[in-house]
Amino acid sequence: MGKSFYIETVGCQMNVLDSELVAASLQRAGYQAVDTPRQADAIFFNTCSVRQHAEDKIYSALGRLKHVKDRHPHKVIGVLGCMAQKDQERIFRRAPHVDLVVGPGQLAQLPALLERIHGGMGPQIEVSLDRKGGSRTEVEESFERFDPVREAPARPTRHQAMVRIMLGCDKFCTYCIVPSVRGPEQSRPVEQIEAEVRQLADQGCLEVTLIGQTVNSYRAVSGVRTFRLSDLLARLHGIEGIRRFKFVTNYPRHMTTDLLEAVRDLERVSPYLHVPAQSGANSVLKRMKRGYTVEQYREMLAEIRQIVPHAAVTSDFIVGFCGESEDDFQETVALVREARFKNSFIFKYSPRAGTKSAELYEDDVSDEVKRRRNNELLAIQNAISEEQSRALVDQTLEILVEGPSKAAQRQTAGDILQLTGRTVCDRIVVFPGHRRLIGQILPVRITKANAFTLFGEVAVNG
Ligand code: 5AD
Ligand code: SF4
Repeated sequence: MGKSFYIETVGCQMNVLDSELVAASLQRAGYQAVDTPRQADAIFFNTCSVRQHAEDKIYSALGRLKHVKDRHPHKVIGVLGCMAQKDQERIFRRAPHVDLVVGPGQLAQLPALLERIHGGMGPQIEVSLDRKGGSRTEVEESFERFDPVREAPARPTRHQAMVRIMLGCDKFCTYCIVPSVRGPEQSRPVEQIEAEVRQLADQGCLEVTLIGQTVNSYRAVSGVRTFRLSDLLARLHGIEGIRRFKFVTNYPRHMTTDLLEAVRDLERVSPYLHVPAQSGANSVLKRMKRGYTVEQYREMLAEIRQIVPHAAVTSDFIVGFCGESEDDFQETVALVREARFKNSFIFKYSPRAGTKSAELYEDDVSDEVKRRRNNELLAIQNAISEEQSRALVDQTLEILVEGPSKAAQRQTAGDILQLTGRTVCDRIVVFPGHRRLIGQILPVRITKANAFTLFGEVAVNG
């Protein structure tokens, strides 16, 4: 039985990390990663359920694999992650050639499940019980075994890593499927996180991004102390070798003063704050059950600007949520104009079966209106992003060099390449340089900019 695999990943950073950990655990079990699905003996899709579109794409990709499976019946096809948890056996009904369905809390079992399939035991499914069925410890245990094993080769770049500090979500925003597919909110113990970050530092990692669905809700008891995110950052800050700490995604109501002061005072914590607002209209925020008013969101922004004036703040918005009027939308426009986010991710509302909004409210904004609002908001945001980027021209910024740019990845000869890297504020910078600069932190002078990318050259004398 062949032992090569390919993983296609969609969705958020949780999924990117999960795929990395899956790849590491398969490699430990003797499987080999390959670059294309064609070469692979096992093809996995790590899926997302946040919007319908993401699911449709997976189902059509699965559909296209039907004839491949007819010709190569031993090729294993697996569906992992959020859609596996949400749709469970329905996946086998819609795509009978799928062999394996594994929820996000059961990914540690993947090598064993593959062995069963290879042993002739037929299709396998492992998902969590529902939230009421005692899944809390089940999910927790599965991650204790899963998360701490970090192997440098499985990471996209050796110098950067994500570390999960929380699982799940308990906020239950009415539009969101995450709490039902990722399970209850749980913070990992401080000691476990610290050990993982030390291990990454020993492997030469320079930048650690702490991730959680609502990362700033982190709270863990260690001995007699309760650690909030600010305390955790202070503790990790002492680990030698790590030059940058980032954390995503934040929940506006938990953006506390102690956390902002930690960002201000801890020099290796990046002044980059992703704090999704979702809407600028109170009636919409209320139906979304976000737990704050737009006035409170504005106060939070003002506090960020006061304590960490140079911070880059980014946001997410959903347009066309149930009952969103043109006036409501204009309030979102006003917030975007005023807040001057570094960038915003804008999504059209997509009703998800199993969420409160799908159950309680009509999806009454037409797709055409959603599209128009999406484009309008994006144009406003992009103009602001471009202005901010342009203001950086002629400045010299510290860049962590990540690797060859997309265009340069196709370049085979020569050592001088187009490289990409990031500033502390998560801005992407493209510049020419020698391959050996990859993994260094260097000063780059910005010469040109558009809304999404800065262009520059390595500054010779800093
Ligand atoms: N429809 C559209 N966008 C959604 N998001 C979450 N659920 C939905 C949905 N049902 C968006 C939110 C969140 C981001 C990750 O995805 O803006 O912050
Ligand atoms: Fe979803 Fe709200 Fe939890 Fe974010 S905070 S994952 S939007 S339920």
